[in-house]
Amino acid sequence: MQKEVKMITKKIIVDQSYYNDKVKRLGEVIRAGGLVAFPTETVYGLGGNALDKEAAKKIYMAKGRPSDNPLIVHVADISEVSTYVKRILPLEKRLMEAFWPGPLTIVFPKKDIVPMATSGGLRTIAIRCPAHEAARALIRAAGVPIAGPSANISTKPSPTTADAVLHDMDGRIEFVIDGGDSLIGLESTVIAVENGKIIIYRPGGITRDMLEAFAPTELDTAITAEQEHPKAPGMKYRHYAPSAPLTVYAGNIEAVESEILSFANKGKGKFGFFVSQETAEKIPAGNIIFVWGRRGNKKELAHNLFQGLLFFNNHPVDHIIGEGTDGGGIGMAIMNRLTKASGTHIINMN
Ligand code: TXA
Ligand code: MG
Repeated sequence: MQKEVKMITKKIIVDQSYYNDKVKRLGEVIRAGGLVAFPTETVYGLGGNALDKEAAKKIYMAKGRPSDNPLIVHVADISEVSTYVKRILPLEKRLMEAFWPGPLTIVFPKKDIVPMATSGGLRTIAIRCPAHEAARALIRAAGVPIAGPSANISTKPSPTTADAVLHDMDGRIEFVIDGGDSLIGLESTVIAVENGKIIIYRPGGITRDMLEAFAPTELDTAITAEQEHPKAPGMKYRHYAPSAPLTVYAGNIEAVESEILSFANKGKGKFGFFVSQETAEKIPAGNIIFVWGRRGNKKELAHNLFQGLLFFNNHPVDHIIGEGTDGGGIGMAIMNRLTKASGTHIINMN
């Protein structure tokens, strides 16, 4: 009979000189088919060798992710892209030069060297070059591109700290590199170039306005209309679900605030609040509150978003009452994640 061996996930803390012996050893783990979670400026990734279909299968297994939802391939430098894709358009080159390393993922037609297991059965491949030094050091040390979905169990919020990775992945992967809080806190923007236009498949760290400066930019219609078939297969699945049902109030701020405050009188401990600092200051003491950030400071709100959804793992409530933000700039990505996290329970107040 085979003995069951429980894997222990080790947390590796890296110092500022990322390209060191520790990272070299972790690169060997990836090359040998193992899984190492790594920090990026968006969220933590669950890394495996993107050219190894067995490693891709392990990633899907560790996440409990449907195998038709493709993985993002991470490279350390623009020069590596041509090894994996059939062609690079001048506009794609300009976008890579402008935004890499950083939170932009581009979908290209893939070469056969990238297995279908990595691309979820698609003939295209999504590639990005992360800004976090530890991520690029790991890719260099591995000597192969690294497939990296967000390092959470499928349907759960994405992790922005090493401890959040451990919460979901302990015992499922070999290592997690602790590189601190993810700076942006929201996943990359996924785009493709079609007929000279940029199509946003998933809103993220790079905003529509930033892309418009390069070419006309449109949203994949599935992002705004639920019934459409999304271009990014991952967009159709349940996502970011916190530990209790979430309802988000958005729109006219006075109306939002008074609606949220009305729940504070309906039973302490029953409701949890995911609200701006301004609203939090008005909620009576004794309530369970995650202070999301200063209202309108969208960088701060993006940075704290997933930590806020995960906060309720340790503070159990029956229902989470959330506050939204407007959809401008990175607000589009924030509201996209909140729409999914709430199972579309967004109430627009006016
Ligand atoms: O910021 C990020 O993008 C993080 C960090 C770790 O890099 N990664 C990430 O990966 O969010 P993941 O797997 O959780 O989300 C990848 C998204 C999914 O919605 C997926 O469907 C889409 O990108 N995607 C990947 N390859 C694609 C392709 N070939 N065509 C269309 N969409 C694709
Ligand atoms: Mg994800």
